Amino acid sequence: MSMVDIINKKRLGRELSDHDLEEAFLGYDRGEIPDYQMSSLLMAICMNGMTEEEIFTLTDIFINSGDQLDLSHVHGVTVDKHSTGGVGDKTTLIVASIAASLGVKVPKMSGRGLGHTGGTIDKLESIPGFRIDLSEEEFIHQLNTVGFAIISQTAHLAPLDKKIYALRDVTGTVESIPLIATSIMSKKIAAGAEKIVLDVKVGNGALLKTQEEAIEISRLMKKIGEKYNREVETMITYMDIPLGTCIGNALEILEVMKILSNEENNYLVALSKALAAKMVQLGLGISIEEASSRVEESITSGRAYQKFLEMVDAQGGDLSKLRVSEHTVDIISNKKGHIIGMDAYKFGKLSLDLGGGRKTKEDKIDPGVGIMLKKKIGDDVEIGDVLCTLYVKEEGYKVEEDITSYYTFQ
Ligand code: URA
Repeated sequence: MSMVDIINKKRLGRELSDHDLEEAFLGYDRGEIPDYQMSSLLMAICMNGMTEEEIFTLTDIFINSGDQLDLSHVHGVTVDKHSTGGVGDKTTLIVASIAASLGVKVPKMSGRGLGHTGGTIDKLESIPGFRIDLSEEEFIHQLNTVGFAIISQTAHLAPLDKKIYALRDVTGTVESIPLIATSIMSKKIAAGAEKIVLDVKVGNGALLKTQEEAIEISRLMKKIGEKYNREVETMITYMDIPLGTCIGNALEILEVMKILSNEENNYLVALSKALAAKMVQLGLGISIEEASSRVEESITSGRAYQKFLEMVDAQGGDLSKLRVSEHTVDIISNKKGHIIGMDAYKFGKLSLDLGGGRKTKEDKIDPGVGIMLKKKIGDDVEIGDVLCTLYVKEEGYKVEEDITSYYTFQ
């Protein structure tokens, strides 16, 4: 069947056979199918969905497009964590530092920003010198010495997902349950961890907008995990407001350091502790109560913070050279009231527009730009108060939107 026939079949809502999926996706991988045809197929998948059979086949195709990491030389239980994506979501860096400080091995393969959501790799690359491309030997060595390592999706692990992910990012084909489930699970299986904790984000700033979608993707990802003999735990968490106080790559690294130094207490901190406790429970085989109390101790004692510094140092990063833009614009409130809502999606898009994400595959990110939220849900605001500060590329940046309208006041 030609690629056009395959696209038409999916457009008409019919199930693609294993053979159709291989023709399309392996053909794209070999460079025989152009971006425009694959984009069209992805859009048809977004519109019409996929059956479980198609989802399993596509996950298999992604996994088999590369190698699978052999973590049998890592001493200890390996627990991976992944988020379906949100705005200001820097939980990976927090929870991996905590779990590793408590003896869990965290082999983490992370992605770049997707759509309006940020990615851990882009955040880490804002640290000058940080290497996201460790060799397999270096990765395993670091897991045995430091306890956690974070690498970018390598050229060898699920490489086809990487190509498709980059295409989805710029073709409006990100928000699809089957595409998100296959993308995440193929990477998780290829990365080799025995146990996986998935943070399924739902809300207006997330890729999944409704509770039903979050429940459905959790069920699918657990099912894919079972097929590959992996223990998968999911937590559905809320993403209606930006997570924490910063959005933007270097700004978020600074925020992670504050949280690990026990200087913050907000929803992001509570969420990170809950996810870390789940990882510690799975990794050490202890009760959730015991895991939670060890997580608290890891933060208050500074062990988690030390672990983060150790990881950055092991991967060549120099935090003393981390820079945020020196050009800032304060956004002044033109309303008075009590904040009861914040549009996470709009804040994510704003950060992207400032240069913190990509609009085309070739775009270069500016690590120093972003948003620091000064007022959040629950705060009282007077006209003239600073709602947030934008970190912008250059002086003279003109704010063209009414950013006060991103907030809902009572
Ligand atoms: N994270 C991924 O790795 N893939 C997606 O498709 C969405 C979020």
